[in-house]
Amino acid sequence: MRVIGLMSGTSCDAIDAAAADLGIEGDTVVLTPLGDIECAFPGGLRRELLAALPPSSTTMAAVCRLDTLLGQALAAAADRADRELCAGEAELVVSHGQTCYHWTEDGRVRGTLQLGQPAWITERTGRTVVSDLRPRDVAAGGQGAPLVSALDVLWLRGRPGAPVALNLGGIANITVAHGAHGPLAYDTGPANVLLDTAVRELTGGRADHDADGALAAAGTVCRPLLDRLLAEPYYARPAPKTTGRELFNAAYLRTALAGFGHLPAEDVLATLTELTARTVADAVRAAGGTEVIASGGGTRNPVLLARLALALDGVPVRVSDELGLPSGAKEAYAFALLGFLTALGLPGTVPACTGARHARVLGSVTPGRGGPPPRPWDVPAPVRLRVSRGAPRTGPSQDPQIGIGNAY
Ligand SMILES: Nc1ncnc2c1ncn2[C@@H]1O[C@H](COP(=O)(O)OP(=O)(O)OP(=O)(O)O)[C@@H](O)[C@H]1O
Ligand SMILES: [Mg+2]
Repeated sequence: MRVIGLMSGTSCDAIDAAAADLGIEGDTVVLTPLGDIECAFPGGLRRELLAALPPSSTTMAAVCRLDTLLGQALAAAADRADRELCAGEAELVVSHGQTCYHWTEDGRVRGTLQLGQPAWITERTGRTVVSDLRPRDVAAGGQGAPLVSALDVLWLRGRPGAPVALNLGGIANITVAHGAHGPLAYDTGPANVLLDTAVRELTGGRADHDADGALAAAGTVCRPLLDRLLAEPYYARPAPKTTGRELFNAAYLRTALAGFGHLPAEDVLATLTELTARTVADAVRAAGGTEVIASGGGTRNPVLLARLALALDGVPVRVSDELGLPSGAKEAYAFALLGFLTALGLPGTVPACTGARHARVLGSVTPGRGGPPPRPWDVPAPVRLRVSRGAPRTGPSQDPQIGIGNAY
């Protein structure tokens, strides 16, 4: 089945669209990447979105407007991905939408809100859309995140030791696929969100990220500031746990910097980069991680990767591309997989990772022009995932007769 995954993460940098051919072979789900594209937010949408996110307050009118404009932007991205990556033959679109609020209280997630009305995607592309994947896991007692953990656990099965998948998005999250502490997944803390916020604040909005870590490379870590940041109680909380802009935002940064006078921008960036490296490395160590497979925009920051390698003290770091999944679009591929599982009526969560009571079939379905893709009956859940570099399969999407083992 040709599936398009759409993702816009905490950084609000762009919409990632990834296309994959997905099928079931025995006990394995086979994912053949067809390519991925990055689609800029149109006009002033990104500015409008950032202005509405925490710590700002907003209005229902603004929420309605964002839901509509994001839905239309996601529709344009899906349409482009269908034409450019799927030769117009995509069968399913899976849209994460834009997280606008992740409601946590005392370590529990009470609700999570992703905007980007899927009707616009179906109306423009004619395809069935699976959207709103997080709330079902929350309703089942989970954190609703990190949902990429389902892909990681299947994908890294059979790798020796305790492999750790790391995503350096706005927030950093890890999946410990197996080993003495796994499976386990959680947000370790900020990856790029505080770096981007600091750059915006310190350059008066002239820049929106520390390109190639140039500022951090020119600065010195300010130990007292790092100690203050590391005292954040979130880091000591037990997993499963998730976080976002509700905690790590511009107001948080201003409070942290209070009393440090005129710290040069370079030193602030060096310190925040070290904070990400330290908190990730501490999490990997606590989980007994034997290797780190990294993805996300943070892998394009050589200073962050170098500091992480130092903090990991010998635990090797490789990028997910080495294992076949493009690091810039891994989350979009993960959502393509989750929607595919939904189309088969299969659960898309690992309860040990999200903290849910049960694995659940995720999402809401907006039927396409010809109705949703026919659902084969009794496809047992796969137990592993193989990324294929070969040509995508042709012919029937998957064989419902194949007998495979149980999930998770
Ligand atoms: N060349 C670069 N140098 C430094 N940082 C970069 C570079 N390219 C990208 N980034 C960082 O990566 C961020 C985007 O990463 P990504 O798209 O993975 O995050 P995201 O959208 O928050 O995703 P998610 O929350 O789903 O993981 C940018 O905001 C920027 O901070
Ligand atoms: Mg992004």
